[in-house]
Amino acid sequence: MVPVAPHQLEARNAIRSTWGNETTVRGKAVLTLFMVGLRDGPSSNETQQQLQEESQQHGDILQSNFTDSYVNLTIKTMVIMDWLATRCAQASFGMKVDSDMFLNLENLMSLLLAPETPKQNYITGMVMRGRTVVRNPNSKWYVPVELYPEPYYPVYLLGMGYVFSNDLPPKIVEASKEIKPFNIEDAYVGACLKRLEIQPSRPPDPSKFRSYLKKYNRDEFLKVITTILKSPQQLLDFWKDVKRSA
Ligand SMILES: *[C@@H]1O[C@H](CO)[C@@H](O)[C@H](O)[C@H]1NC(C)=O
Ligand SMILES: *[C@@H]1O[C@H](CO)[C@@H](O)[C@H](O)[C@H]1NC(C)=O
Ligand SMILES: *[C@@H]1O[C@H](CO)[C@@H](O)[C@H](O)[C@H]1NC(C)=O
Repeated sequence: MVPVAPHQLEARNAIRSTWGNETTVRGKAVLTLFMVGLRDGPSSNETQQQLQEESQQHGDILQSNFTDSYVNLTIKTMVIMDWLATRCAQASFGMKVDSDMFLNLENLMSLLLAPETPKQNYITGMVMRGRTVVRNPNSKWYVPVELYPEPYYPVYLLGMGYVFSNDLPPKIVEASKEIKPFNIEDAYVGACLKRLEIQPSRPPDPSKFRSYLKKYNRDEFLKVITTILKSPQQLLDFWKDVKRSA
């Protein structure tokens, strides 16, 4: 499940022609879907029209009735969770992965198919511990005390890409009814998990969930599950190189 802004067609197309185009990995079905809100502002009608055409062409867009903006990312994540809970309960695992990520599905599948990987109450990714809540109103990550009073966030998984057993979405949706939303989607999911008394798991090999890799190196991209990229073009370029036969 890829949260993306309505106008980010280039990001969606890069994913569609790379990891989003994989339907079977090690014999298991995988499906990539995009989640968007509604575009606000002067070009909103035009964007909506294009989005509808794009949706007819590809059939991989989910849209929900909220204004698509940075502060509403928590809403978007919770709509993803709700959709997985109500429309996709047959899936064994889900992943929330940002639209600027490289995703190595072979390695993801190896993790999910490993006998020691729990099938329930399981969520993993890059584990964040003891993160201070940002109280500087000028920061993109600012959260007012009224929304989240404690000085530190609970343990959570960095929003770039986290993967979970698919029994979790309905539990997270249920827990969220008791937790006031705040605008940091990954920490908010952490708050829901804390309420559920579910501990995020450290991946067996934490180096597989990377934020930035300093420079492109094919061997590293062959080893990671996910890592942040700088542009849709990088995804196309790196993918081509990673997939070339040795
Ligand atoms: C997806 O892969 C199929 C072959 O498996 C190919 O025919 C198709 O063009 C690809 N789609 C994109 C958007 O690259
Ligand atoms: C979206 O929500 C607004 C405000 O709640 C409502 O007026 C509108 O009819 C909704 N649109 C759709 C398509 O459901
Ligand atoms: C989403 O964000 C905008 C501001 O960017 C806000 O006006 C709107 O009410 C928010 N919530 C929903 C449900 O759309």
